Amino acid sequence: MKAFPEKFLWGSATSSYQIEGAWNEGGKGPSIWDAFCTVPGRVARGESGEVACDHYHRFKDDVKLMKNIGLHAYRFSIAWARIQPNGRGKPNPDGIRFYSELIDELLANDIVPWVTLYHWDLPLALQMENDGWLNPQIADDFAAYADICFEHFGDRVKNWITLNEPWVVSILGYGQGVFAPGRTSNSEPYLAGHNLLRAHAYAVDIYRRKYQAKQGGQIGITNNCDWREPATDSQEDKEAAQRAVEFFLAWFADPVYCGQYPKVMVARVKDRLPSFSDKDKGLLKNSTDFFGLNHYATMLAANNTNGSRKTEVYGNGGLSEDQDVLLTVKKEWEKTDMHWAIVPWGCRKLLEWIDDRYGRPPIYITENGCAFPEGPVDGKVDDQRRVDFLKGYLSECNQAIANGVDLRGYFLWSFMDNFEWASGYSKRFGIHYVDFETQERIPKASAFWYADTIRNNGF
Ligand code: GAL
Repeated sequence: MKAFPEKFLWGSATSSYQIEGAWNEGGKGPSIWDAFCTVPGRVARGESGEVACDHYHRFKDDVKLMKNIGLHAYRFSIAWARIQPNGRGKPNPDGIRFYSELIDELLANDIVPWVTLYHWDLPLALQMENDGWLNPQIADDFAAYADICFEHFGDRVKNWITLNEPWVVSILGYGQGVFAPGRTSNSEPYLAGHNLLRAHAYAVDIYRRKYQAKQGGQIGITNNCDWREPATDSQEDKEAAQRAVEFFLAWFADPVYCGQYPKVMVARVKDRLPSFSDKDKGLLKNSTDFFGLNHYATMLAANNTNGSRKTEVYGNGGLSEDQDVLLTVKKEWEKTDMHWAIVPWGCRKLLEWIDDRYGRPPIYITENGCAFPEGPVDGKVDDQRRVDFLKGYLSECNQAIANGVDLRGYFLWSFMDNFEWASGYSKRFGIHYVDFETQERIPKASAFWYADTIRNNGF
């Protein structure tokens, strides 16, 4: 058996827009995802999170399912537009009540809540009236919203994540336009990213000044990154792989540890990369109590020697023309239903890269998982491929710990099948199958396997 450290935290994760539904109930205002889903062609089959997993109404049953598999911790996000329907002003009592009840239900079942304040569902008013993350004002708006959450939930919530994946918000939302708000630009991602970082820092500042001492919690940020393996042993390709990880992860992690952007980005992005004021630098530096990491896939990286501007062959490279990195995958690598390559050792290498660059921070994997299309046969879901995936990735996590990485927990994405953004309901990441017509939940083979793993603290 692969044993994990005694205090290792075993969790699972979801996000508000992907599971809650009840998009216009309980005084909630519309979010940019509510709006984006109405634009023809943006989401597969015109689907939306209007109903999703109906978790808003079924959360007590969902917590029972969590209890059944023995989760230590559950990571969910708060929909800003439930707390402040227009993104600003007085809190909406029904929104406060909903999350308060969810938190109480979790605690009554010995499940520790891990709360993300922003998982992409920006109140629509802030987008329409203020240009969303492009407006520097949003850092103060976000901090005010975070303040409300700390005040109302911080007596019971001891683990806060300010933002989920600012890279996705910036690149997919403002660069490639495939996620809300659907903008395409080669400069806006850097401006949005800059304001996301400032918003994170302002929220952390409020938590630390007003709440942390008396509430005794921790606060951090979750970044996402794939691993980039040099395509060859050449110095150029090694540098290209390093550059690709810096453009992906260090873009957001360097500022929160060191108060500045990576040098390679400053040199290449030039005046499209904003610079931090002294005040913002000071607030950013050391503004995370742990390293939250979402990790899914690996690609090979090569230097783009021929100078062609169109460098991205396949996958999630970000603004590739700024990086001059060619990304590919090995044909023999198995792929998930998202076409993401399954390369468990990439996870270990990334953990070691983080450990090295940021001086052995405590790390929590706040998302890892895979989409496979398996559905029920005679009332059972045999998702052995997901079990194999999890075994592979958790084995490498275990190895990383043995190699000295301070990995403290793992949140499996996802607790149940849900609305997978632009892919709609076609991509199933859950360890519980959800029938979106009847809302029936069926634990998959992976849910039973995960329950055993948690019980044994390893497998
Ligand atoms: C992450 C995101 C999740 C989920 C997952 C699988 O980027 O935070 O919401 O969609 O990817 O695609």
